[in-house]
Amino acid sequence: MSFRLQPAAPARPNRCQLFGPGSRPAIFEKMSASDADVINLDLEDSVAPSDKDEARRNIIQATHDVDWGTKYLTVRINGLDTPYWYRDVVDLLENASDRLDQIMIPKVGCAADVYAVDALVTAVESAKARRKPISLEVIIETAAGIAHVEEIAASSPRLQAMSLGAADFAASMGMQTTGIGGTQENYYMHREGEKFWSDPWHWAQAAIVAACRTHGVLPVDGPFGDLRDDEGYRAQARRSATLGMVGKWAIHPKQVAIANEVFTPSHEAVTEAREILAAMAQAQAIGAGAAVYKGRLVDLASVRQAEVIVRQSEMIVAG
Ligand code: COA
Ligand code: MG
Repeated sequence: MSFRLQPAAPARPNRCQLFGPGSRPAIFEKMSASDADVINLDLEDSVAPSDKDEARRNIIQATHDVDWGTKYLTVRINGLDTPYWYRDVVDLLENASDRLDQIMIPKVGCAADVYAVDALVTAVESAKARRKPISLEVIIETAAGIAHVEEIAASSPRLQAMSLGAADFAASMGMQTTGIGGTQENYYMHREGEKFWSDPWHWAQAAIVAACRTHGVLPVDGPFGDLRDDEGYRAQARRSATLGMVGKWAIHPKQVAIANEVFTPSHEAVTEAREILAAMAQAQAIGAGAAVYKGRLVDLASVRQAEVIVRQSEMIVAG
């Protein structure tokens, strides 16, 4: 490890982020009653241009009226290339209740995008003497976003989370697909008459995880578009969890339970992690730096791996 220690990401459960359009207030109560850790009320692409003003009003009202319990309440604003985003930030920060936790910035392309929103948030917070500082999350969903992912992860002390937005990412990269996440028909290896599907999102996910872990930000997997394909969602979520992501979006309530299941370390995984810690404690007690656990080498690196799982489990139980 370099002498600069890796900062810890915010210690709050972020297993599932449930999205809903700000123009559909009838589902707000259902969202608040869901088991998602994070709620993302949307002002961006699920809201038609003619509905932007009304969606803003609905969301502001809902920060006052709806009981969001312990959920982390986030609003996705419009992109910095639109005429809407400044009014999203100003109206929200001037009028939303202190229940609002976070603003999500879509299509971030460089650190200055986050700086601009941070500056506006800071000015309105100060003008309105808001007591609770608003945090930020960003979506990496453009070629520029992934090219500048590290500077974006380092861009603001307000930044808590970063998601991969598969659909816009694919469009911006010029990918030949209309699929939103998951395996893609034409992304395969071929050998002896058989196809082996690979994961076209893997590189972007790994780049996001590395940038986030370097700067103490939560890495999150974005949407999975095929609402009929629960097993496809589960497989994508499992790959993301294996790569180090802490959660995944749900764009329909049926996806929430799968995300919660995948991103909660299983009883078996936690038991095994605790056994590894115990095996190493025993080894260290007799002066050994390594041991054999179920036929596998365990050493200090195994302790750090096991601690990731135990910490995540304890944080979720406490949350
Ligand atoms: N959160 C909470 N509840 C939701 C919901 C959501 N995002 N979407 C639908 N529901 C509710 C419905 O109101 C319905 O409730 P009911 O049984 O009490 O009538 C139930 O879940 C089943 O809904 P269903 O009929 O299957 O879906 P729908 O046609 O009403 O809506 C979508 C489907 C995809 C349009 C809707 O889920 C949606 O808008 N998702 C979020 C889209 C979004 O925010 N995109 C931006 C990020 S990519
Ligand atoms: Mg998008």
